Amino acid sequence: MADTLTVKDNRTGKEYELAITDGTIQASALREIKVDDDDFGLMAYDPAYKNTASCRSAITLIDGDKGILRYRGYPIEQLAEHSTFLEVAYLLLWGELPTKSEFDGWVDQITHHTYVHQYLIHGMEGFKWDAHAMGKLVSLLGTLSTFYEDSKNVRDPAVRREHIIKIIAKMPTIAAWCFRHMQGRPYIYPDNGLSYVGNFMNMLFRMAEPKFEPSPAIEKALDVLFILHADHEQNCSASAARAVGSAETDPYCSLAAASAALYGPLHGGANEAVLRMLREIGSLGNIPGFIEGVKNRERRLMGFGHRVYKNYDPRARIIKQLAHDVFAETGKNPLLDIALELEKIALDDEFFVERRLYPNVDFYSGLIYQSIGFPVEFFPVLFAIPRAAGWLAQWQEMLMDPEQKIARPRQVYIGEGERAYVPMDKR
Ligand SMILES: CC(C)(COP(=O)(O)OP(=O)(O)OC[C@H]1O[C@@H](n2cnc3c(N)ncnc32)[C@H](O)[C@@H]1OP(=O)(O)O)[C@@H](O)C(=O)NCCC(=O)NCCS
Repeated sequence: MADTLTVKDNRTGKEYELAITDGTIQASALREIKVDDDDFGLMAYDPAYKNTASCRSAITLIDGDKGILRYRGYPIEQLAEHSTFLEVAYLLLWGELPTKSEFDGWVDQITHHTYVHQYLIHGMEGFKWDAHAMGKLVSLLGTLSTFYEDSKNVRDPAVRREHIIKIIAKMPTIAAWCFRHMQGRPYIYPDNGLSYVGNFMNMLFRMAEPKFEPSPAIEKALDVLFILHADHEQNCSASAARAVGSAETDPYCSLAAASAALYGPLHGGANEAVLRMLREIGSLGNIPGFIEGVKNRERRLMGFGHRVYKNYDPRARIIKQLAHDVFAETGKNPLLDIALELEKIALDDEFFVERRLYPNVDFYSGLIYQSIGFPVEFFPVLFAIPRAAGWLAQWQEMLMDPEQKIARPRQVYIGEGERAYVPMDKR
């Protein structure tokens, strides 16, 4: 059996044989299919990249039909149970789980780059106190690039590694300062004696106590949430990081672009939208009416559905369990009952079953974040911190891939043909 596809062009009667590799054909091979020598050749038309592989990647595997997510081959369930976020970040970026000495060196380097340049505070002070934290994060990541001129040498592996470490180390600091700024509280400097997540909690929540002691249950829950959010292959924000990075833009600006993509309510903003939706529903009695509204297409059931998962999102299953662990510490979130009932009704309803709409990662994560004490505006920032590891892994892989070039899609032009300019008084 030949690994080829035979295509007959009925306009000309000619047949073409296209190679099939890894279940794909090269879109550029279609260009050979022409009506005559002046013809540009066929293109693939695929708005929103629904069926186009834009790269070959060895980082993350999702099997949406089976509900499988693996980082570098390791199932997400095993990583969530046994690993830590910094170990997972190492795995995503460098391909293998670290040995003890590799891991210790990695943690040491991350820990010693957590401080940010003091001038960054001036950038922060330019924002209104109630500015959305994601707006601040996007801007401050871009601002950081101006502190590191050398980071634009993206073809140098040593430079890449240095700035990968800086970004992973500084994300919690910038994020925590965005949080403190929102609350009008003084910024807290990193405490190198704490874990990555413990230090993040210190910079978020410490007040007058001389030494911040993170709650072990919350520290563990945030670490697991960071693992679950660390990468998700070629989603909107990873594609943004790759596309912008393909212009050899430095990693800070590439990640600012990725964060901007994550800000959208259809992507990382969804857990914020879930919380607002649950609040709006308000009580169990209002659920049937709300579901009717969804089925009448007046609105969407936020936290449900996924472009790739057409089965239960494996991260949602872990988060649902995690929610119970957090609530044992913080007290139950009153919106949990509404979420559980919504899920139950939707999973039984033909509208959702037919469309294979299941809870996604955002359905329960917002409830956990709210119980820990985060305002909804901060939720996408909590997504961006760990996802920086995935963005950087994707960005680095793109730069090392000899098949990649600056990203430049084609278009099907549907506008006017050539026409002469009409002076304003003649229109
Ligand atoms: C994630 C999402 C953008 C994926 O969208 P997509 O792959 O483009 O899927 P589509 O929008 O084509 O949806 C397919 C069908 O399911 C319906 N649908 C999808 N998600 C839905 C939702 N959350 N609520 C109600 N209906 C939904 C669509 O209306 C469409 O129905 P139709 O075929 O009768 O027109 C979409 O499911 C969504 O908006 N979910 C809510 C936001 C969210 O939770 N995002 C976080 C993702 S991690």
